[in-house]
Amino acid sequence: MGAMNSVVSVEDLRRLARRRLPRILFDYIDGGAGDDAGVHRNRAAFDAYRLRPRYLVDVSERSLATPLWQHRYVAPFGIAPIGLAGLFRPDGELLLAAAARDAGVPFILSGASIATIEDVARIAPDHTWYQLYPAREQRISLDLLRRARQAGLGVLVLTVDLPISARRERDVRNGFDFAIGMSPSLLLDGLMHPRWSLGYLARGGLPAFGNWRPYAPAGASPRQIAEFFVSQSFATQTWRDVELYRREWPGRLVIKGIQHADDARRAAELGVDGLIVSNHGGRQLDCLPAAIDALPEIRAAVERRVAVMVDGGIRRGSDVAIALSLGADFAFVGRAPTFGVAAAGAAGAGRALDILREELDLAMGQLGITSVAGFGPELVARPAGSPPS
Ligand SMILES: Cc1cc2nc3c(=O)[nH]c(=O)nc-3n(C[C@H](O)[C@H](O)[C@H](O)COP(=O)(O)O)c2cc1C
Repeated sequence: MGAMNSVVSVEDLRRLARRRLPRILFDYIDGGAGDDAGVHRNRAAFDAYRLRPRYLVDVSERSLATPLWQHRYVAPFGIAPIGLAGLFRPDGELLLAAAARDAGVPFILSGASIATIEDVARIAPDHTWYQLYPAREQRISLDLLRRARQAGLGVLVLTVDLPISARRERDVRNGFDFAIGMSPSLLLDGLMHPRWSLGYLARGGLPAFGNWRPYAPAGASPRQIAEFFVSQSFATQTWRDVELYRREWPGRLVIKGIQHADDARRAAELGVDGLIVSNHGGRQLDCLPAAIDALPEIRAAVERRVAVMVDGGIRRGSDVAIALSLGADFAFVGRAPTFGVAAAGAAGAGRALDILREELDLAMGQLGITSVAGFGPELVARPAGSPPS
């Protein structure tokens, strides 16, 4: 943990990750659709808000504990699903899951993970949620659901904001794609980032999409498994699929990527338990609204019928405070713990969560509230004349 003492902000972890990772991977994490306009908009939207403190309140005892369904999490935020995390650091997903478990917050395992559902569930059985990327062959999607259920996971997250693939200019320039395992530019880049490369060389090479191995042709190489995954990706999804998953999944069902009040209402009518208001971290379409700007409309549309969560652009505890004040029940962070795990493994991911928790606790004390139930719209303002984000 010693090396982590010099890390005082999420931005510090970003800088360390940039140094350690091949450029092509850092750009994949850091970048977004088009020229990153949506990534910047997510940040600008938070920067446009001000928090309004109330003083002369006893804030000597504060708690970040947050009830969500039958759980009580230590803080009101968790780790968003991040594809390929096991390519940024060997066992990346297992390290993120361990960090979330130790911090008492949820970890959403990506549908494009390297680690398997079963391995992650063994590490953090009570904190892991599973995010499904449906396959073109429905039998595969249903088998993934069966595995998640059998592993004891209680929450399924259906990401809906990838009807088709995105065009991310940094990835296009770098020649990044999912079948990257054999890409000459990654190997070349790796030579200049030996600490990253050595971690994989010690294990005999780059890893594969673990969950997809059973469905790919027998004996497929990591690259062939990646190609199989890509061939199954961007399966058409409609509301009928939401109905199907609602029938098939006995646990909590969450839809991630909702931006429109009508979609939120429809999801609530179909019995969905939660929504994550998100623009995929600015990675799908460059001109979507910032997630935090879409949040109040969605909260108003579904009222208290479903849990409303948000992600996109959260780099500080005060951002979480803004999200909760605007009506979110819970928040997620994607890049913050990902930079942490890439920079320094579980300690780095844990440091990201610690920093966010400390900053949120500070914000609460300053705002004059002692529990997350104290957040509300009276604590947040957007100064008149602030530019639209
Ligand atoms: C490198 C990377 C990979 C991601 N992979 C997935 C994924 O597999 N599934 C998914 O639903 N969202 C994915 N996302 C989106 C995140 O879950 C989340 O919505 C986003 O990162 C939140 O924004 P933030 O990074 O500013 O916190 C990914 C984001 C990043 C940065």
